Amino acid sequence: MRKFSIVPMFTEMQIAQRVDQVADDIAKDFKGQDLIMIGLLTGSFIFLADLMRAIHAHGLILQVDFMTVSSYGAATESSGIVKMLKDIHINVRDRPVLLVDDILDSGRTLQYTTTELLKKGPSLIKTCVLLDKPERRIMPVHADYVGFEVPDTFVVGYGLDYDGRYREVPAISRVEFHEE
Ligand code: IMP
Ligand code: MG
Repeated sequence: MRKFSIVPMFTEMQIAQRVDQVADDIAKDFKGQDLIMIGLLTGSFIFLADLMRAIHAHGLILQVDFMTVSSYGAATESSGIVKMLKDIHINVRDRPVLLVDDILDSGRTLQYTTTELLKKGPSLIKTCVLLDKPERRIMPVHADYVGFEVPDTFVVGYGLDYDGRYREVPAISRVEFHEE
């Protein structure tokens, strides 16, 4: 593995404050609606857990389910092919859906999952990501709710991994790779 160091980007407190603001926006926008949140595993699980409790604190009742799609494997670059590994169990027909992911990069994951979910006939699909790397976009997708915009760097922590590690770190850092 290449040599690298971890450089702090967002503290635990900065993340908590931003998650609360995004939850407030979502709770207002979906007021009185029977919302289903769908998290994309594995990266979104920590963000989603905090977000749904913050949404609850802002007065909205919701249901949750998860979907797993393949994207990166063990590298820091996507293979470009997205595949469904685990579908949702909940019936989303005629109900509003909020699709939640950790980070929007090339856009392939959100493009694919939105298309798959649309086939199930929800009344509406909105998307929410903790982090957005707009410079990396290949597909013409955007997220309706964004925690933070980040530059084109690889980031870890708060659910995001580098080769399966660092998901448990409460803060978000960037990975700085060194020349050998
Ligand atoms: P996209 O399909 O290229 O938009 O990639 C989205 C997926 O790639 C996310 O769900 C993440 O799992 C992963 N990903 C993209 N950028 C990063 C990063 O900087 N750190 C960790 N995972 C990332
Ligand atoms: Mg992911």
